[in-house]
Amino acid sequence: MDKIVVRGGRPLRGEVSVSGSKNAALPLLFASLLTGEPCRFRNVPELVDIRTTERLLQDLGVDLVESAGHVVALRARQLARHEAPYELVKTMRASFLALGPLLAREGRARVSTPGGCAIGARPVNLHLAGLEKMGARLEIVHGYVEAEAPRTANGRRLRGARIALDTPSVGATENLMMAAALAEGTTQIENAAREPEIEDLAAALGKMGAHIEGAGSSAVRIEGVAALGGVEHEVIADRIEAGTFLVAGAITGGETVVRGARAEHLDAFLLKLEEAGAAVERMADGIRVRGPARPRSVDVRTAPFPGFPTDLQAQMMALLTIADGAAEITETIFENRFMHALELVRLGADIAVDGNHAMVRGVERLSGAPVMATDLRASVSLILAGLAADNTTEIRRVYHLDRGYERIETKLAALGADVRREKAGAP
Ligand code: EPZ
Repeated sequence: MDKIVVRGGRPLRGEVSVSGSKNAALPLLFASLLTGEPCRFRNVPELVDIRTTERLLQDLGVDLVESAGHVVALRARQLARHEAPYELVKTMRASFLALGPLLAREGRARVSTPGGCAIGARPVNLHLAGLEKMGARLEIVHGYVEAEAPRTANGRRLRGARIALDTPSVGATENLMMAAALAEGTTQIENAAREPEIEDLAAALGKMGAHIEGAGSSAVRIEGVAALGGVEHEVIADRIEAGTFLVAGAITGGETVVRGARAEHLDAFLLKLEEAGAAVERMADGIRVRGPARPRSVDVRTAPFPGFPTDLQAQMMALLTIADGAAEITETIFENRFMHALELVRLGADIAVDGNHAMVRGVERLSGAPVMATDLRASVSLILAGLAADNTTEIRRVYHLDRGYERIETKLAALGADVRREKAGAP
């Protein structure tokens, strides 16, 4: 078990390049199941979750043609199996994105339900309801979704349908969009998720021959086709990683530039950073932030895109722990996404959590201490707080971190942070 050791108190200065988006790359890799032709993705981040996805796809019979230097090339000529086992789906919920493509291409799938995780129950009812409307027969047996879709008159597996999502679920929108790409007829997804990662998936599916309109809006229309071709596609920049490095500059009163970040993917977040007193410069090829001497307290309420992203809530909370007043953070997407609050309190923060509200009363300074990471974004918020704290902060269980951030300690050190990774004895 590794740990990250941060010695705080230094303003970060300099420039980092943002990696490719984890949450765009994962569905893109699963889209390769939809075709027997070669699919080649560039700017894929080097992350544990990407390696896990490669293993799962290979288990299904997909050839991993290339996987080096941020390129992943796959070819699913024919599939040997149709099962995504519990061990993999439990460790990486995005494995559930195998369901739609397997059903659309093969007409059958056995995919473990993801179960809950640290931040919430994470149900998949919207994925299942949508696939059922498209003609799939689904049953949950011993924690697995047993799914089949008999061929229609002209050989398709699924039929187009009108689907209205109760909540704009990112994963459900992605699963259903991929399934609909090979369905017979038209699928209309109402209240679809609008995240940039959805648009990136639709752009790649379009290059494969899919007919998709409205991706990025709340109404997505997909005309199914009989078969899809291969694709060469570059993954979009990771907006959450970018936001994380911008907070690193703001929380240390420094000045950081994130090359490759796209301001239009972070608008609500950047406006909040400015309200908190940071100077933000939106550039053609990146974003610059200059931290205030001391942040101002601003209320934050997470929402589906284009609202304030839940994946940047923990990072914003870290910033607000040293602000000049009281701020209320409301988490509307997940039911248990404040676990970082308890660890931030160990660093001297003054935070009161009540359900999905957290009241953050700013303190002058944080002071370093050993803390424990609980989930991907919580772990990075502890590093951010450590950068602003006096003396040393040790963050344990950083395997969470490696799922979503590529070499974060190297990137932070390049900005002048005193941060290093060490082998931790006890877990
Ligand atoms: C994606 O998860 C991201 N993961 C998450 O990022 C992100 O936090 C989330 O979208 C919201 O933006 C990937 O893209 C791999 P949802 P996903 O389905 O698709 C409820 C990170 O840190 N819901 O949009 O699982 C659900 O309970 C991760 O990178 C249902 O009720 O999120 C939640 O309350 C964490 N039924 C809300 O919708 C369903 O069938 C949003 O979930 C599906 C979801």
